[in-house]
Amino acid sequence: MAITAYQKCINPDCGAEFDRTEAIFKCPKCGDLLDIQYDWSRAELPAKMEDFSKRWANRNQRLDFSGVWRFRELLNFCEDEHKVSIGEGQTILQQNDFIAKELGMDKGNVHLQYEGLNPSGSFKDNGMTAAFSHASLVGAKSCACASTGNTSAAVSLYAHSCGMKCTVFIGQGRIAFGKLSQAMDYGAQTIQIAGDFDDCMKQVQDVCTKLNIYLLNSLNPFRLEGQKTIMYRIIESLNWQVPDWIIVPGGNLGNSSSFGKAFKELKDLGLIDKIPRLAIINASGADTLSYLVNERDLKWNSGWVETKEINSLYADFTAKKFSPHTIASAIEISRPVNLKKCLRSIEICDGLVIDLPDEEIKDAKAMIGKYGLGCEPASAASVAGLRRLVQDGTINPGEKVACVLTGHALKDPDITVNYHTKREGVLSNPPVEVPNDLDKIIDIIKA
Ligand code: F0G
Repeated sequence: MAITAYQKCINPDCGAEFDRTEAIFKCPKCGDLLDIQYDWSRAELPAKMEDFSKRWANRNQRLDFSGVWRFRELLNFCEDEHKVSIGEGQTILQQNDFIAKELGMDKGNVHLQYEGLNPSGSFKDNGMTAAFSHASLVGAKSCACASTGNTSAAVSLYAHSCGMKCTVFIGQGRIAFGKLSQAMDYGAQTIQIAGDFDDCMKQVQDVCTKLNIYLLNSLNPFRLEGQKTIMYRIIESLNWQVPDWIIVPGGNLGNSSSFGKAFKELKDLGLIDKIPRLAIINASGADTLSYLVNERDLKWNSGWVETKEINSLYADFTAKKFSPHTIASAIEISRPVNLKKCLRSIEICDGLVIDLPDEEIKDAKAMIGKYGLGCEPASAASVAGLRRLVQDGTINPGEKVACVLTGHALKDPDITVNYHTKREGVLSNPPVEVPNDLDKIIDIIKA
């Protein structure tokens, strides 16, 4: 299969191109974000998306088993021998009629994409399998990332699976225990900085440049190629129908960036006939995207983004020593690195952004636990977003919706236990305290 991938700067005034074998992560000419592009005219593609389903029959072959590499023609940037896989992407799309009913949606129209079922327990594995394959292609020996927790868990797991040295940067007190436990357990060097995610993100970029370490944050455009497959699996589960809406939490904005790219490519290639609308949900305590889009009218504008709006907001953050705060620690980010690409996705998908308070996110999380397979707080922002968008009439009950549940319920047990035991919300379900006495236990169960 001819490999036609190359890297290209997204800035229309620059547009510099680089070989796929370079590990650069930002345009060396202008500092803007890089995209992976393909010469599709030379690509060997299936005639229709359904053709990918044939690979289910070859599940004993590692690349056909992977829920990412099963779609390899759509992210064809390296030879098979470099492709790293630990069995990622075996995730499911659950039709959840209980939640549909709770939210006033029609039966059959609410779907939850459980990315917490990945090997490291979050959607990150979709991106890591791709980025580590690129790391293998360029011969990287050590890697690093900054993280609110899930990236560090996924990086640590893939790194030890391919024998790479790994350093993860986390903000002190800013990471859920499930995630911290993974980084330590998988053998990563864990650097805890007295700062937040945005501080870690800055440090890791400087460290990677100085020490020539391979960077695995979503600045890495190869990661985003892997994350496109979450969308392929959603439409595969819907029997190759495109839903009306995709709803996703927004943090560093890698997912939203890659989803728009995925749909644009499929539409341009004639493999789908419509593009779903995209709703991105910020937590109100980390609402940079929502503020810039809704209050400052920031747009993609064919790549000519009004950067002075962004710079002035960030200068304000610095002046006020602002640090974001939300119980959804995974999306506690105030300077999202993929902001511009996300604006592009909003344009491609006729998208929108809202931000929601922690209380709504926590109640939605409890609902996903009660009626579904559960998820971590940030993931529940998607269902909380659906509730809001149904209430305000943006989404109507007859539309088909897929909410991406980005991380596993056990990532952040503290938030769950507090919600229930401290009776923080409408679905709190605390344990009942009883004496060690059979009659009293029976009385309570029968009551
Ligand atoms: N949901 C979960 C569970 C996450 O861990 C993240 C990001 C997001 C949503 C936001 O996704 O960045 O693509 O908009 N976590 C990163 C990390 C930042 O370091 O683990 P995004």
